[in-house]
Amino acid sequence: MPNRVSESRLLIVGLGLIGGSLAAALREVGFDGKIAACDPDASEIERGIDMGLIDSGGTALSQQAPGASMIVLAVPVLAMESVMRELADVLPEDMAHVVITDVGSTKATIRDCARRVFGRVPPTLVLGHPIAGSEKSGVAAANPKLYVNHKVILTPEPDVDPDALTRVRALWQATGAEVLEMDVAQHDHVLARTSHLPHLLAFSLVDTLARQDQRLDIFRYAAGGFRDFTRIAGSDPVMWRDIFIANRDAVLASLDDFEAGLSKLRAAVEAGNSDAMLATFDRASHARHYFESLLNDTSYQAEYLMQPQGQVTYRVRPGGQAQGRLRVPGDKSISHRSIMLGALAEGVSEVKGFLEGEDSLATLQAFREMGVAIEGPHQGRVTIHGVGMHGLKAPSGPLYVGNSGTAMRLFAGLLAGQAFDSELTGDASLNKRPMGRVADPLRLMGAVIDTAEGGRPPLNIHGGAALKGIDYDLPMASAQVKSCLLFAGMYAEGETRVREPAPTRDHTERMLNGFGYPVQRDGDTCWLAGGGKLTAGPIDVPSDISSATFFLVAAAITPGADITLEHVGINPTRIGVINILTLMGADLTLSSQAEVGGEPVADIRIRYAPLKGIDIPADQVPLAIDEFPALFIAAANAEGTTRLRGAEELRVKESDRIQAMADGLAILGVEHTVVEDGIDIVGNNRENVPSYGGGRIDSLGDHRIAMAFTVAALRAGNEIVIDDCANVGTSFPNFVELATRIGLGVKVEGENG
Ligand code: S3P
Repeated sequence: MPNRVSESRLLIVGLGLIGGSLAAALREVGFDGKIAACDPDASEIERGIDMGLIDSGGTALSQQAPGASMIVLAVPVLAMESVMRELADVLPEDMAHVVITDVGSTKATIRDCARRVFGRVPPTLVLGHPIAGSEKSGVAAANPKLYVNHKVILTPEPDVDPDALTRVRALWQATGAEVLEMDVAQHDHVLARTSHLPHLLAFSLVDTLARQDQRLDIFRYAAGGFRDFTRIAGSDPVMWRDIFIANRDAVLASLDDFEAGLSKLRAAVEAGNSDAMLATFDRASHARHYFESLLNDTSYQAEYLMQPQGQVTYRVRPGGQAQGRLRVPGDKSISHRSIMLGALAEGVSEVKGFLEGEDSLATLQAFREMGVAIEGPHQGRVTIHGVGMHGLKAPSGPLYVGNSGTAMRLFAGLLAGQAFDSELTGDASLNKRPMGRVADPLRLMGAVIDTAEGGRPPLNIHGGAALKGIDYDLPMASAQVKSCLLFAGMYAEGETRVREPAPTRDHTERMLNGFGYPVQRDGDTCWLAGGGKLTAGPIDVPSDISSATFFLVAAAITPGADITLEHVGINPTRIGVINILTLMGADLTLSSQAEVGGEPVADIRIRYAPLKGIDIPADQVPLAIDEFPALFIAAANAEGTTRLRGAEELRVKESDRIQAMADGLAILGVEHTVVEDGIDIVGNNRENVPSYGGGRIDSLGDHRIAMAFTVAALRAGNEIVIDDCANVGTSFPNFVELATRIGLGVKVEGENG
């Protein structure tokens, strides 16, 4: 235990469940000071002594308070004032030597009591609230684990004595709780919604049902739903009466919001309005998963998909083979766009082959939060009930897009054209990535956007701006920026024209045209006019060539390999990897070529053939931008030097991919030279001899770095261990399963975080 809790004598006033559990928790961690209690019920004191929770106690505060170094007020909220008055009478005038804290569920009323009794909130009084409890009451129910992993909110006043605050923090930390601070008003507002309202509803529901004639039947047959919803109606009535008196205004405000929501739902049920019901239930169901993950500290998509989370490490056996037929998941870029355009279209869009990865799911969830009813995904099928160009609703909080740069940048364009304010935020990696590249041209169009320092997320987008079309020369080859501007252009007056320095993926243009929104192109420039509309239609998402790449490279470097990848998107703006591998000498053939929903697809067969190093043609760089981590592994297995230049964009992807790959290659012992916009890699290709060694590599949370080094193991002399692989789930949730199927030996450690 914590020497940190150095109280010589702790006095708990009110020895019920909360006070008793505090004593029990301190005992369990070996607190060596004295614990005393004061309670009007002498039998509770006796029980506390019998249970070994307290050393002594009594019913008179005047006898217990003197000599205490800390006093915890664990009495009902409405009893607080009289207890404070008694304390004021017995404690020395300055109260400087005794720290006082409380556990009340509302804070403004208790602060008011303190002001009335002491004339002000004494600096040694630190108000607090452990967010833990049980429907049980009394010291007999004391539980030493009650606070473990629960939150305790402290609401110190600005002039609090810092030593008192440290001591109260230490007290709660010793019980295993996480201690937070907020101000009194925020505490009461938050608790009204998260605790007081649900208790009010549970009391009311049980009471209403209990008064109906068939009550016995209702209770006898009441199953899970009733039980889950009403457990808290068994809580202490007096305590809750006090809370509702004390936090009246905040509770009434939250009840008003609830009643408004309930009457909308009532209307939907009455009218049999399936879209409205689905929209509410979908949003709620996903929000519930999201809450769960917040409680468990995981990402909600990971929670939702039951995927690896937390610290995930891949341990990859050296060698193995690369054989088989595979279908990799749906294209990430097209999956994002299918949800975005489907949501804004008029009518219902059915999507097949949707990527159920965390990135595209983040986009899906964000639209749910803006009121769009979306069914699925279920085995790649999603049904989107479009709301039309102006049908989105203001989200109730920031839109969280996880690891996805595409989602954030495309959303920025869409949201700039909405009537409401919005905020876009992401995970730690995304929050470091540059967003000035979209914010700057959007501002030229008239959008009002705030970013954090250096143009980083979060993005705060002010609604209601009147956008005007612009003629914009992209400073970098970026499909995300192009798409962002085209999306904003749909809401702008006049034409929005974007000129690209090199061709980039054109999925946005193709899909807009497919949804009946004309986008034109002449050479390097594409444009559209604002004010159009989208008409829903079916979308068949091809397999992602960027995911297929890991298996193309696996086969390209492994003697004897033969892999066929089915139904892969081979849009001309995405096939840099095919062109580059072919130039390096790979044996690739395309078959079953077809067009699905405006996108060309093919089966790609690749058989091993020795690779040679090349100078990567500059025009292929934007067409293979996501494929370089894997291509660097191909280069490490090619005879001679492979040179890449003009690829500075790689430095601002999910990681600095030039440096992250160079660091990993160095660990494997692959000779290379890094330059600002590229790298030279000196490869080896002697069949039967490993091309490099093994080692432990940090993927820096970048999915493509993790997958590239997994494939590298096929030609390694020793095991490759790759840390921080959980984000593989952003783009390729079943990567390990497919890698294993073709003959790689991957062991996943720490899946369940
Ligand atoms: C994407 C565009 C590319 C790519 C990203 C997806 C898209 O980014 O790297 O994975 O879907 O538009 P940039 O536009 O930043 O090059």
